[in-house]
Amino acid sequence: MPKQNRRKFIRNALATTASASVLANSRFVHAQDGQPAESKSPNSQLSVVVVGVNGRGGEHISQMLGAEAVTITHVCDIDSAVGDRRAKQISDKQGKAPKIETDIRRVLDDKSIDMVTIATPNHWHALAGIWAMQAGKDAYIEKPVCQNVAEGAALIAAARKYNRMCQVGTQCRSSRAVQEAIQFMNEGGIGDVKFARGLCYKRRKSIGALGDYEIPSSCDFNLWSGPAQYTTPKLTRPQFHYDWHWQRQYGNGDLGNQGPHQTDIARWGLGIDSHPSSIISYGGRLGYQAERKDPTYTDAGDTANTEVSIYDYGDKCIVFETRGLSVDDSADDELNRLFDSTRGNKVGVVFYGSNGYVVQREYTYCIAFDKQFNVIREFRGGGDHFGNFIEACRRRDSSLLAADVREGHLSAGISHLGNISYYLGEDNRVSNGELRDALSKVKSLDDNSATLDRTIAHLEKNGVDLQKYPMSLGPMLAFDPEKELFTNSDAGNDLLTREYRGEFVCPTADKV
Ligand SMILES: NC(=O)c1ccc[n+]([C@@H]2O[C@H](COP(=O)([O-])OP(=O)(O)OC[C@H]3O[C@@H](n4cnc5c(N)ncnc54)[C@H](O)[C@@H]3O)[C@@H](O)[C@H]2O)c1
Repeated sequence: MPKQNRRKFIRNALATTASASVLANSRFVHAQDGQPAESKSPNSQLSVVVVGVNGRGGEHISQMLGAEAVTITHVCDIDSAVGDRRAKQISDKQGKAPKIETDIRRVLDDKSIDMVTIATPNHWHALAGIWAMQAGKDAYIEKPVCQNVAEGAALIAAARKYNRMCQVGTQCRSSRAVQEAIQFMNEGGIGDVKFARGLCYKRRKSIGALGDYEIPSSCDFNLWSGPAQYTTPKLTRPQFHYDWHWQRQYGNGDLGNQGPHQTDIARWGLGIDSHPSSIISYGGRLGYQAERKDPTYTDAGDTANTEVSIYDYGDKCIVFETRGLSVDDSADDELNRLFDSTRGNKVGVVFYGSNGYVVQREYTYCIAFDKQFNVIREFRGGGDHFGNFIEACRRRDSSLLAADVREGHLSAGISHLGNISYYLGEDNRVSNGELRDALSKVKSLDDNSATLDRTIAHLEKNGVDLQKYPMSLGPMLAFDPEKELFTNSDAGNDLLTREYRGEFVCPTADKV
């Protein structure tokens, strides 16, 4: 039966208008604490609201339109122009128009909604997800699932307390290629594996000069800012959407943007089920003066575009390398052999085994080599991450989720902890020699010196004068994975959460 016809059977009791009292109240505790919700039969209709529908939200919409027995009953976006555009697309395809809202709290008051998918900027992920689960909805939340470590813990607590499904948008978890490559490693395909390197060599141009820019009239900046501070001047970057990724109030740089896919695969492949015990990062936001041929140029972003983070997990280790300048010819011979050296961007994970390598190169492609770089196996195939979420929602079984919130929290945590070391050391500009000395004392399964050489060569190729603009070295942070606190840095602990404002306070794990 075509989807439009099936929709005739959909319940149509959707017209609940939010009350002012709900808007005044930031908590939506409709779900029964710990009570199992009823499972829904495979054919019963589920209603979903997609929240944040500009970029990634478009994919959420496509996936939900393609799912059996799911109706998009609402779209929610603080940009009314974006909401209108998406609602029209949905209406054309679904044969039934969704309601359009700008304030998520109005949507959550509607008891007919079963599921919420969230593709807002990162600073909204946790609060929107917690509100949704408190209101009795299941939540699909984009990566990174939280903007700081405390928010991730709160999301887990909310999912467990309200007995909700909470899937994270790390869709590689559902990819057959990655699943089979990891199984191959677990079965000893490349011998003993204790070290993984995540790469995000991905060109990111300057987002424009720091300034005072106009906010599009269709956007509600108070709602957009939400749990973040309401900045003055309001918009300090030229482009309203997307470029917030590179402003730390809202985003987490590429370590926390592309990174969570790869940090997740690295941790999953190594079988690591906790946070690291120590972390150190170095890098900078470098090269845009050379790129713009203007030594006084100040880019509006304040996250690192060049960052190396080293994570110690006892007998295992992850290193993550982020590069945003031109990445043509930026890898060394080994990485060029493991990745396709003809391509500029190199995004993926390398697992180093005693007998070879496994490389995740694409969402749907992995490859294994022996020590001489002969191909020993290839893995192909994607998966249905949204379908997996919907299935878990129907069966009321979070063990079915390919990317339960706890996995998302641990993997996002890798990004956040790396960034904290970088932020704390931002003013500690050091020469290449000082950096080399410091790294020689850092415990790691990587060759720290070779990674530094590669990073320096990359920056120099991009015209960065490292004497004038040296890299920063962050402190070596010791972390208690159970307590989720640094044991040697009060300043670091401050950055595990943030200052919230007024009606947008994200509760802590003990208060969800
Ligand atoms: N899984 C993936 O492969 C993947 C790919 C791309 C992006 N993402 C993630 O998706 C998220 C969105 O990224 P994007 O590139 O689409 O960003 P974007 O800025 O283009 O879109 C975000 C949208 O959310 C809206 N919004 C902001 N606050 C809102 C709120 N409180 N309520 C409702 N709408 C709100 C904005 O108006 C905008 O339309 C990010 O967290 C990103 O990391 C995931």
